[in-house]
Amino acid sequence: MTPQHIALVRSSFAEVSPIADSAAKLFYSRLFELDPGLRRLFKSNIEAQGSKLMNMITAAVCLLDQPEKLMPVVRNLGQRHTAYGVEDHHYETVGAALLWTLEKGLGAAFTPEVENAWAAVYGTLAMTMKEAASEMFEVA
Ligand code: HEM
Repeated sequence: MTPQHIALVRSSFAEVSPIADSAAKLFYSRLFELDPGLRRLFKSNIEAQGSKLMNMITAAVCLLDQPEKLMPVVRNLGQRHTAYGVEDHHYETVGAALLWTLEKGLGAAFTPEVENAWAAVYGTLAMTMKEAASEMFEVA
Protein backbone atom coordinates (compact mmCIF):
# COMPACT_ATOMS: atom_id res chain seq x y z
CA MET A 1 0.00 0.00 0.00
CA THR A 2 1.76 3.18 -1.21
CA PRO A 3 0.97 6.90 -0.63
CA GLN A 4 -0.28 6.95 -4.23
CA HIS A 5 -2.73 4.10 -3.44
CA ILE A 6 -3.97 6.02 -0.39
CA ALA A 7 -4.51 9.22 -2.41
CA LEU A 8 -6.45 7.36 -5.14
CA VAL A 9 -8.62 5.51 -2.61
CA ARG A 10 -9.44 8.77 -0.82
CA SER A 11 -10.35 10.71 -3.95
CA SER A 12 -12.45 7.88 -5.40
CA PHE A 13 -14.21 7.16 -2.08
CA ALA A 14 -15.20 10.85 -1.89
CA GLU A 15 -17.18 10.26 -5.10
CA VAL A 16 -18.93 7.17 -3.72
CA SER A 17 -19.78 8.45 -0.23
CA PRO A 18 -22.71 10.64 -1.36
CA ILE A 19 -24.33 7.44 -2.68
CA ALA A 20 -23.21 5.30 0.29
CA ASP A 21 -26.69 3.84 0.96
CA SER A 22 -27.23 2.60 -2.55
CA ALA A 23 -23.58 1.48 -2.79
CA ALA A 24 -24.09 -0.61 0.38
CA LYS A 25 -27.26 -2.20 -1.07
CA LEU A 26 -25.49 -2.94 -4.32
CA PHE A 27 -22.59 -4.45 -2.39
CA TYR A 28 -24.76 -6.88 -0.40
CA SER A 29 -26.82 -7.97 -3.38
CA ARG A 30 -23.60 -8.70 -5.28
CA LEU A 31 -22.09 -10.47 -2.26
CA PHE A 32 -25.11 -12.80 -1.87
CA GLU A 33 -25.17 -13.42 -5.61
CA LEU A 34 -21.51 -14.53 -5.47
CA ASP A 35 -22.09 -16.70 -2.38
CA PRO A 36 -25.72 -17.15 -1.26
CA GLY A 37 -24.47 -19.13 1.76
CA LEU A 38 -23.07 -15.93 3.31
CA ARG A 39 -26.55 -14.51 3.91
CA ARG A 40 -27.07 -16.65 7.02
CA LEU A 41 -24.07 -14.99 8.74
CA PHE A 42 -25.81 -11.60 8.75
CA LYS A 43 -28.22 -11.60 11.68
CA SER A 44 -28.92 -7.88 11.95
CA ASN A 45 -30.84 -5.62 9.61
CA ILE A 46 -28.87 -5.41 6.38
CA GLU A 47 -29.38 -1.64 6.07
CA ALA A 48 -27.92 -1.04 9.54
CA GLN A 49 -25.08 -3.37 8.61
CA GLY A 50 -24.54 -1.46 5.35
CA SER A 51 -24.10 1.82 7.19
CA LYS A 52 -21.69 0.20 9.69
CA LEU A 53 -19.63 -1.09 6.79
CA MET A 54 -19.58 2.33 5.10
CA ASN A 55 -18.65 4.05 8.41
CA MET A 56 -15.81 1.62 8.90
CA ILE A 57 -14.55 2.14 5.35
CA THR A 58 -14.78 5.92 5.84
CA ALA A 59 -12.80 5.70 9.09
CA ALA A 60 -10.23 3.41 7.50
CA VAL A 61 -9.83 5.71 4.48
CA CYS A 62 -9.21 8.66 6.87
CA LEU A 63 -6.65 6.76 8.94
CA LEU A 64 -4.78 4.97 6.15
CA ASP A 65 -1.71 7.15 6.66
CA GLN A 66 -1.76 6.62 10.44
CA PRO A 67 -1.34 2.84 10.63
CA GLU A 68 -0.42 2.99 14.34
CA LYS A 69 -4.01 4.17 14.99
CA LEU A 70 -5.78 2.19 12.29
CA MET A 71 -4.22 -1.25 12.67
CA PRO A 72 -5.29 -1.95 16.30
CA VAL A 73 -8.89 -1.11 15.33
CA VAL A 74 -8.69 -3.37 12.28
CA ARG A 75 -7.15 -6.18 14.34
CA ASN A 76 -10.01 -6.01 16.85
CA LEU A 77 -12.50 -5.98 13.99
CA GLY A 78 -10.84 -9.12 12.57
CA GLN A 79 -11.09 -10.89 15.91
CA ARG A 80 -14.79 -9.98 16.24
CA HIS A 81 -15.37 -11.41 12.76
CA THR A 82 -14.48 -14.93 13.91
CA ALA A 83 -17.49 -14.71 16.27
CA TYR A 84 -19.64 -13.78 13.25
CA GLY A 85 -18.64 -17.08 11.62
CA VAL A 86 -16.37 -15.43 9.04
CA GLU A 87 -13.67 -17.66 7.56
CA ASP A 88 -10.48 -16.65 5.71
CA HIS A 89 -11.75 -17.51 2.23
CA HIS A 90 -14.76 -15.19 2.68
CA TYR A 91 -12.41 -12.19 2.45
CA GLU A 92 -11.80 -12.92 -1.22
CA THR A 93 -15.55 -12.92 -2.01
CA VAL A 94 -16.10 -9.70 -0.04
CA GLY A 95 -13.15 -8.08 -1.86
CA ALA A 96 -14.62 -9.08 -5.24
CA ALA A 97 -18.05 -7.67 -4.27
CA LEU A 98 -16.42 -4.44 -3.07
CA LEU A 99 -14.45 -3.89 -6.30
CA TRP A 100 -17.54 -4.69 -8.38
CA THR A 101 -19.56 -2.13 -6.37
CA LEU A 102 -16.89 0.53 -6.84
CA GLU A 103 -16.86 -0.15 -10.56
CA LYS A 104 -20.65 0.34 -10.73
CA GLY A 105 -20.55 3.43 -8.49
CA LEU A 106 -17.62 5.17 -10.14
CA GLY A 107 -18.22 4.28 -13.79
CA ALA A 108 -15.44 5.70 -15.99
CA ALA A 109 -13.61 7.00 -12.90
CA PHE A 110 -12.90 3.38 -11.96
CA THR A 111 -9.59 3.32 -13.84
CA PRO A 112 -7.09 0.44 -13.59
CA GLU A 113 -5.03 2.62 -11.20
CA VAL A 114 -8.05 3.16 -8.93
CA GLU A 115 -8.83 -0.57 -9.03
CA ASN A 116 -5.23 -1.46 -8.07
CA ALA A 117 -5.26 1.09 -5.26
CA TRP A 118 -8.48 -0.36 -3.75
CA ALA A 119 -7.20 -3.91 -4.16
CA ALA A 120 -4.01 -2.94 -2.27
CA VAL A 121 -5.88 -1.18 0.53
CA TYR A 122 -8.54 -3.90 0.92
CA GLY A 123 -5.78 -6.53 0.77
CA THR A 124 -3.94 -4.83 3.65
CA LEU A 125 -7.10 -4.56 5.78
CA ALA A 126 -8.13 -8.16 5.04
CA MET A 127 -4.65 -9.51 5.78
CA THR A 128 -4.53 -7.65 9.11
CA MET A 129 -8.00 -8.94 10.08
CA LYS A 130 -7.16 -12.54 9.15
CA GLU A 131 -3.80 -12.45 10.97
CA ALA A 132 -5.38 -11.08 14.15
CA ALA A 133 -8.14 -13.70 13.95
CA SER A 134 -5.65 -16.56 13.54
CA GLU A 135 -3.57 -15.31 16.49
CA MET A 136 -6.60 -15.72 18.75
CA PHE A 137 -6.22 -19.47 18.47
CA GLU A 138 -2.47 -19.66 19.01
CA VAL A 139 -1.38 -21.38 22.18
CA ALA A 140 0.73 -19.02 24.27
C1 HEM B 1 -12.00 -5.18 5.24
C2 HEM B 1 -12.98 -6.05 5.46
C3 HEM B 1 -14.18 -5.83 6.36
C4 HEM B 1 -14.61 -4.71 7.04
C5 HEM B 1 -14.00 -3.31 7.04
C6 HEM B 1 -15.81 -5.10 7.79
C7 HEM B 1 -16.54 -4.25 8.62
C8 HEM B 1 -17.55 -4.67 9.48
C9 HEM B 1 -18.14 -3.85 10.53
C10 HEM B 1 -17.74 -2.41 10.85
C11 HEM B 1 -19.08 -4.61 11.16
C12 HEM B 1 -19.97 -4.14 12.33
C13 HEM B 1 -19.74 -4.94 13.59
C14 HEM B 1 -18.38 -4.73 14.27
O1 HEM B 1 -17.83 -3.62 14.25
O2 HEM B 1 -17.87 -5.74 14.84
C15 HEM B 1 -19.09 -5.90 10.50
C16 HEM B 1 -19.91 -6.96 10.84
C17 HEM B 1 -20.01 -8.13 10.13
N1 HEM B 1 -19.24 -8.49 9.04
FE1 HEM B 1 -17.69 -7.45 8.29
N2 HEM B 1 -16.10 -6.42 7.52
C18 HEM B 1 -15.13 -6.90 6.66
C19 HEM B 1 -15.05 -8.18 6.16
C20 HEM B 1 -16.04 -9.12 6.27
C21 HEM B 1 -16.06 -10.41 5.62
C22 HEM B 1 -14.95 -10.97 4.71
C23 HEM B 1 -17.22 -11.02 5.97
C24 HEM B 1 -17.66 -12.38 5.47
C25 HEM B 1 -18.84 -12.58 4.94
C26 HEM B 1 -17.93 -10.14 6.89
C27 HEM B 1 -19.14 -10.42 7.53
C28 HEM B 1 -19.63 -9.71 8.60
C29 HEM B 1 -20.74 -10.20 9.45
C30 HEM B 1 -21.47 -11.53 9.29
C31 HEM B 1 -20.97 -9.21 10.41
C32 HEM B 1 -22.01 -9.24 11.55
C33 HEM B 1 -23.35 -8.92 10.98
C34 HEM B 1 -24.50 -9.09 11.95
O3 HEM B 1 -24.32 -8.96 13.17
O4 HEM B 1 -25.57 -9.32 11.44
N3 HEM B 1 -17.20 -8.99 7.03
N4 HEM B 1 -18.15 -5.91 9.49
